[in-house]
Amino acid sequence: MIPVIATTNSATNVEADAIVLGVEQDRPLRGSTAAVDAATNGLISRLIAQGEISAKRLSLTSLLAPAGIKAAQVVIVGLGQPSGDDGALAYKSAAAAAKLLAAKPRKSVAFFLDVGPKSLAIAGALNGCVGQDLYRAEKKITPFEQILWADVDERSLREGSILGHAIQDTRRWINEPANQIFPESLAAECVRLGKTCGFEVEVWDEKRLKQERCGALLAVSAGSDQPPCLVIMRYRGGPNSRAPLGLVGKGVTFDSGGLSLKTSESMVDMKCDMAGAATVMGAMQAIALLKLPTNVVGLIGCVENMVSGRSFKLGDVLTARNGRTIEVLNTDAEGRLVLADVLDVARQEKCSHLVDLATLTGACVVALGRYVAGVMTNNQAWCDRVLAAARQAGEDAWQLPMFADFDDHIKSDVADIKNIGDGRWGGAITAAKFLEQFVGDTPWTHIDIAGPSFLERPLAWVDAGASGALVRTLVRLVAELGAES
Ligand code: BES
Ligand code: MN
Ligand code: ZN
Repeated sequence: MIPVIATTNSATNVEADAIVLGVEQDRPLRGSTAAVDAATNGLISRLIAQGEISAKRLSLTSLLAPAGIKAAQVVIVGLGQPSGDDGALAYKSAAAAAKLLAAKPRKSVAFFLDVGPKSLAIAGALNGCVGQDLYRAEKKITPFEQILWADVDERSLREGSILGHAIQDTRRWINEPANQIFPESLAAECVRLGKTCGFEVEVWDEKRLKQERCGALLAVSAGSDQPPCLVIMRYRGGPNSRAPLGLVGKGVTFDSGGLSLKTSESMVDMKCDMAGAATVMGAMQAIALLKLPTNVVGLIGCVENMVSGRSFKLGDVLTARNGRTIEVLNTDAEGRLVLADVLDVARQEKCSHLVDLATLTGACVVALGRYVAGVMTNNQAWCDRVLAAARQAGEDAWQLPMFADFDDHIKSDVADIKNIGDGRWGGAITAAKFLEQFVGDTPWTHIDIAGPSFLERPLAWVDAGASGALVRTLVRLVAELGAES
């Protein structure tokens, strides 16, 4: 845990290895930035005039040992022309400055950023200084020993710190390789979370999954030597009478594709296929630590999709927990099979609403690009609330249609449904249409995070690998639900 501490020191006087300031485009310098400019004899305004400092959104400039202030380094982050509620800018600007500074070990970095919600900016700072190099002796990104934050109230500080650490943990679970994170170790992590954060955890092992007739989930797991499990995390922050929100996550700890084997190129990052589950776990952690006043059940289905003499096969017909029969035409469309059974368990938990998160389809990345989550629903009002939460959290999510015509695409000649659509077009939607078969009439929103959850290349504000996408959105959504009760 990186401590985040409020400082009342000014930017010119603070004792820190570095300070972070913002500059806005075509607007006069203000606040701490103006104060540092004055103390350094107009250094910042001069460099802006000379075009050495850019105020373009997320551009970074580093100044070493400017005379007139205590800190040995100043990082100036461009904010473009910010609006006060820009959550994405708050998170990313703090994260980008942190990432630049984390290239070297630092004791303390002081942030004098005044853009958007402070809790999001703090969460960003906590994540900019953490990378994917878990197993490198010589780190490319070294976490700060502490973070100082100026002009912040206790509440934002606490919220930002809890949220930021939950996102760090989510990223770490995803970045851990599949020889470290497999169904049982992921479940053990949930049990640990339940104890430290304060929620009840129930783990269904393989035997229980058989008793519960989770035939779709179990089929995916059949080829693996790692036993599957399903984890139910029950957080009670609201009145007992209130039906919980259900958060469901795809926890495929490695997706080889099964007998419909992936190429090495598409398999190489498939440790990330439990990102949906990790996102639910991170959200549960933050929701419980923030003591949000509502009830939430997190459910994750954990399996490894592997190849062996026991693997499920093309043409197999499975019976899902809800009784629907499924013809398997591609063992690489495994996520929807796992979620089919987990969604049915979520219904049994009497959830009032459902959200599921899954690295479900490459097609969603084709449709929306690498950085945007795809959102699909059976209930527009519920979807609108999820989209509003994403907007407020500063995360990019975009709805795809669920037109009834798509239902025909998953009809099977031998079973109730088949696990792939006809042809490759609209693959994100046919996958969602498949999931819809298992939610009954519960308002449900599906979020395909195949693009944003895991990055091939680093960005200015986040290392390559796991991004922690959508944790902020879920926490925001639950906070909104709590506020209305
Ligand atoms: N886990 C993959 C989807 C994925 C792709 C996640 C890229 C992250 C990055 C999923 O299980 C999968 O293999 N989907 C197939 C579905 C197809 C067989 C209908 C796909 O997208 O190709
Ligand atoms: Mn797959
Ligand atoms: Zn998968």
